[in-house]
Amino acid sequence: MRDLTEQNTTEAVLAAWSDNPDPRFKQIVDAMISHLHVFVREVQLTEEEWAAAIEYLHKCADISTPERSEFILTSDVLGVSSLVDTINNRRPEGATENSVLGPFFVAEAGDLGPVPELEVGGDLIGDRNRGGDPTHVHGVVRRRDGTPIEGAELNFWQNGPDGLYDMQEPDRGYNLRCRMFTGADGRFAFTTTKPLPYTIPLDGPAAAMMQYAKRNVWRPAHLHVRIEAPGYERLTTEIFNEGDEYLDNDAVFGVKNSLVLDWRVNESREDAEGLGLAAPFREINYDIVLEPAAEAAEAAE
Ligand code: BEZ
Ligand code: FE
Repeated sequence: MRDLTEQNTTEAVLAAWSDNPDPRFKQIVDAMISHLHVFVREVQLTEEEWAAAIEYLHKCADISTPERSEFILTSDVLGVSSLVDTINNRRPEGATENSVLGPFFVAEAGDLGPVPELEVGGDLIGDRNRGGDPTHVHGVVRRRDGTPIEGAELNFWQNGPDGLYDMQEPDRGYNLRCRMFTGADGRFAFTTTKPLPYTIPLDGPAAAMMQYAKRNVWRPAHLHVRIEAPGYERLTTEIFNEGDEYLDNDAVFGVKNSLVLDWRVNESREDAEGLGLAAPFREINYDIVLEPAAEAAEAAE
């Protein structure tokens, strides 16, 4: 392996990696080398541009912490996270579609302690002085044939009337985040405030790169939800809001038409009183449709 030229470099590098004993790892490394070399040749990458790319990675490392990964954000804004999410969660027509997880999910317990559990029908708004647009979110976790799914665990999280997630202002403790379990009827329901559009973190190299390229840094408003139920595929998704100005240029490519709902205005005083809200309030009624996990579907055959 001497005298590498423009013409034979890729072949020589692939040969150097060719004893790789792990077939899947080999497939990935070989494809990565090949595509990177094609990319370098195609754009005729200059030394200054190569150095700028390395500096970008250093800046990502400098600003990343266990809670905040600028590398993941880079994957998000380049559409890689969304593509990985989509190809790994192919579902039939009628099942709820996946969308990106984002950085603000908290598994059972985070820095602020265990994520609070809310009973079906509970109130997630908490501090009434924060303002916001009160909303009743409800629906059923079910199969495509309509059968309700009992014992599903739902995790909801969203931003507040100031556009921030609880993790971005930890002094308030957890808010607008909960776990909820379905009973035999599969129902979930809670009152909350309507989420707002927000920008991806603006203090790191990902946003700087986007702003340099004149790309939108905003995400459309959304309610995040992850659902796990024994015997079913885990679903991670987001519910968007019809009319949001960022639906067609989401900074991280998470929007799917089936996830865009009309957060309709309900004027009924009676309905509002029953929910502990004032009329008018907003309402979404949305069923979450899970697919049986592959093993469960095979066992049933
Ligand atoms: C979010 O939806 O929370 C999010 C996703 C990707 C990047 C930044 C935020
Ligand atoms: Fe989000």
